[in-house]
Amino acid sequence: MITIKNHAQIAKMREAGALLHEVLEQIKRKIEPGITTKELDRYAEKLIRSHGAVPSFLNYEGYPASICASVDSQVVHGIPSSSTVLKEGQIISIDSGLILDGWQSDSAFTVGVGEISEQAQRLIDVTEESFFAALEVAREGYRVSDIGHAVQSYVEQRGFSTVRALCGHGIGREMHEDPSVPNYGQPGHGARLRSGMTICIEPMITAGGYDVKTLGDGWTVVTSDGSLCSHYEHAILITDGEPELLSLPGYHKEEKR
Ligand code: MF3
Ligand code: CO
Repeated sequence: MITIKNHAQIAKMREAGALLHEVLEQIKRKIEPGITTKELDRYAEKLIRSHGAVPSFLNYEGYPASICASVDSQVVHGIPSSSTVLKEGQIISIDSGLILDGWQSDSAFTVGVGEISEQAQRLIDVTEESFFAALEVAREGYRVSDIGHAVQSYVEQRGFSTVRALCGHGIGREMHEDPSVPNYGQPGHGARLRSGMTICIEPMITAGGYDVKTLGDGWTVVTSDGSLCSHYEHAILITDGEPELLSLPGYHKEEKR
């Protein structure tokens, strides 16, 4: 069931998104060669709790941490570990979520560790750009599959692939609500987007093929061909005009472009 949020609920989701943005910005500053993903996780959990929020990933279906930290060919759900020491030239995606006053937010970014290759930076840039390309059709009157179509055409035209096995999703009181929001597909299908819907758009883009597999830890998803993968995600509010980026407060399309 797709839920439409009222003004008071949207205000709460805006607060949750703003806090998550702050948390992710602080984590981003700590990413450098030598730090472990476990340290990043500890820091994130402390920060989230210090603001009176709850880390939504921790214990979600048994997940053991407050962030997912996915390095290089890891797509999503990399489990933070004291033995994962970041090295110059790697790329890392950090995905996190929190619950503030009963309302969820969920967001992810990918950055390089120190200096990275041109190809890796291009992958990160195209992933982010595909999210913003999808925003163009993330408004009342379009359909859910228009989003995936926008992501897919943007990245494939640039020689990259979009992961099919994992999707974006509705968000609200629950981290994962209807509708499911694939990052590929034909336009004009699925639920019609309506003002007051809140969804997460989260392209996962690879430098190789789109096929992925899950490692023996039951969580870590990696590209089947070992190619690099980048992830970018925000919780957004559908309106009858420009969508509002709940987890990127202050964003205005005009300034970005
Ligand atoms: N953040 C992921 C998503 O975007 C879900 C994380 S699963 C968890 O849907 F187990 F790590 F919490
Ligand atoms: Co998500």
